[in-house]
Amino acid sequence: MKYPHPAWIEIDVAQLQQNIAHMRRHIGTSLYCLPVKANAYGHGLTGIAKIAEQSGIDYLGVAHLQEGMKLRQAGIQLPILVLGAIHEDQIVDLIDFNLEFSISSQFKADLVAQHCQKIKKRCRVHLEVDTGMQRTGVRSLTAQKIFHHLKQLDCFDIVGIYSHFATADRPHDPFALQQLRSFKELIQDPLFQGQPLIRHLANSGGTIFFPESHLDMVRPSLCTLGYLPEETPVSLQGIRPCFSLKAKVSYFKVVPGGCGISYGHSHTTSKQTRIVTIPIGYGDGYRRTLSNRAEVLIRGRRFPIVGTICMDQFMVDVGDAEVHVGDEVVLIGRQGHDEISLLEIAKLCDTIPYEILCLFNDRLPRVYN
Ligand SMILES: Cc1ncc(COP(=O)(O)O)c(C=O)c1O
Repeated sequence: MKYPHPAWIEIDVAQLQQNIAHMRRHIGTSLYCLPVKANAYGHGLTGIAKIAEQSGIDYLGVAHLQEGMKLRQAGIQLPILVLGAIHEDQIVDLIDFNLEFSISSQFKADLVAQHCQKIKKRCRVHLEVDTGMQRTGVRSLTAQKIFHHLKQLDCFDIVGIYSHFATADRPHDPFALQQLRSFKELIQDPLFQGQPLIRHLANSGGTIFFPESHLDMVRPSLCTLGYLPEETPVSLQGIRPCFSLKAKVSYFKVVPGGCGISYGHSHTTSKQTRIVTIPIGYGDGYRRTLSNRAEVLIRGRRFPIVGTICMDQFMVDVGDAEVHVGDEVVLIGRQGHDEISLLEIAKLCDTIPYEILCLFNDRLPRVYN
């Protein structure tokens, strides 16, 4: 295939659409919000948003104003909710770019109201309630008071009320149920009953393991992209990753035994072997800590990375296998009958899949197939 860069991220669009369809069946009549923050977990912000829009997703979530602006500039029409806390100097843009945003304190509510008055515009907001994450959101105890305050201010169209799970990816941890209970108790208050509010709480873990948390809308991102927690019910097992990280072999050489490879010579060949160079490195977000640890797939076989990963390239020992310059290399994903999973790479880096995905930067083109 002809790509402008010798390393790239490939998104399997049909698989993503299938994942969305599986999730849609699972959530029934609830609205489906897809958080696409952090460049859609590395999958490409606008690319994924466009597919989501064409696949019947109801809402998009972003962390920051800037992400919402990019989506609007790309022509995305879906409602977009900015999930992160807002800052005073963002208020006018949030409104002008037709973004819904979170109110998570009375102080911010008052600031927004002042700006709305100045520019003579209304805004669409969701009240964020903290039920146990201790990140952002008004405390459950003060939520009624602040909701009432928002109504008094008369510049807010209060679209929703939401909270966020801290432990829902662990189905046996009772804390998620405790959060669900306190959120449900809160929204049963007559104050929140008199108007059509979108009540939402569930991330991937919540959506998969706690169906009673689906309420009016769910916000599952990681599982929509294809990464399921252990113990996911079989009915969702058709969900698979749609992301692959690939490159083309850029160089080939035969080296003798006893030869040090790459910076610091952290690997020495034990005998004569063939070494190929792969044009991707930590400057793209492929972690240096994978040096001498991770493997790649070439022609359906696994080969080890040898020597230290450089900023733009690294080396692989292919032994006496036949490998040619230009061959496709899979760093994450399937090739032939084998797969290098995101989890395998995350474990080698002693981190979670989310972090690995978010590290891949814009030097790597996203290709939607
Ligand atoms: C407020 C909020 N909702 C939903 C999500 C999606 O989480 P997940 O990818 O686990 O589904 C996140 C991600 O961290 C979030 O911060």
